Amino acid sequence: MREITPKKIVEMKGREKITMVTAYDYPSALIADKAGMDIIFIGDSLGMVVYGEENTLNVSMDQMVYHTRAVAKGVKRALVLADMPFMSYEVSIEEGMKNAARLIQAGADAVKIEGGYDHYKLVKKLVRSGIPVMGHTGLTPQRYLRLGGYRLMGEREEEIEEILMDAKALEKAGAFAMVLEFMLSDVAKLVTEEVKIPTIGIGSGPHCDGQVLVWHDLLGIYENVPPFVKKYADLRSMIGLALEEYKNDVKDGRFPEPRHYWEFLDKDDFEKKRKRVLERISEDH
Ligand code: KIV
Repeated sequence: MREITPKKIVEMKGREKITMVTAYDYPSALIADKAGMDIIFIGDSLGMVVYGEENTLNVSMDQMVYHTRAVAKGVKRALVLADMPFMSYEVSIEEGMKNAARLIQAGADAVKIEGGYDHYKLVKKLVRSGIPVMGHTGLTPQRYLRLGGYRLMGEREEEIEEILMDAKALEKAGAFAMVLEFMLSDVAKLVTEEVKIPTIGIGSGPHCDGQVLVWHDLLGIYENVPPFVKKYADLRSMIGLALEEYKNDVKDGRFPEPRHYWEFLDKDDFEKKRKRVLERISEDH
């Protein structure tokens, strides 16, 4: 069992901010865990940032299981959270249960679903069966067609009501936390005050109990990132420069250097071996 459990995440509310970052493979998971992240999250955003899709709707359960397995191998301390992809839990509670179990069997400690109120029964059943659940309200990218695109949420009164109903339903069903995505910070503050479980914001301001960002966005791997992202590095330029330098070194004969390869010290010995091998080869053919 890993050090950070869903119970510990709940206990952090009001005491210390919760840190969460996405990761999709083993080396990233190792780095994120060593950096001391509380939650390492295999988000279905992988459809966009790893597979180059325009949205998250094509992400399959098999992809989520595959990446969860890789991430889980790299994490010793943080809570490993895996996303339930589009239509893996909407069709029936049974299917949602089976799919959540696959992510847990792949090494996740908990699963995340988008929505709240509509999935009350599923969340309750998952939690009772021993699968910790995180909810997600506000901008829910799996519903971007219904929402009319990726947009800031919570301006209209009906939207505030819907968000709050999701949050209350998640709390009542036994979810241990919820993501609040891209909503007005006043609304995120209201939700954070109204529920006893932690809220983890993305583009929703400073009042949430924690923050989550997507790996590729915060590390500057892409040029175009959502407006709420803070870039902590410019890996795109760094990687590009490193690759160019490698290419130029190879083209101009600067790589490999003598410290990167091994040769026979006794050239006479090699000459004898070379002759014998060539003779044998020519006999054989
Ligand atoms: O899939 C994802 O990365 C997410 C985060 C934006 C919270 O759901």
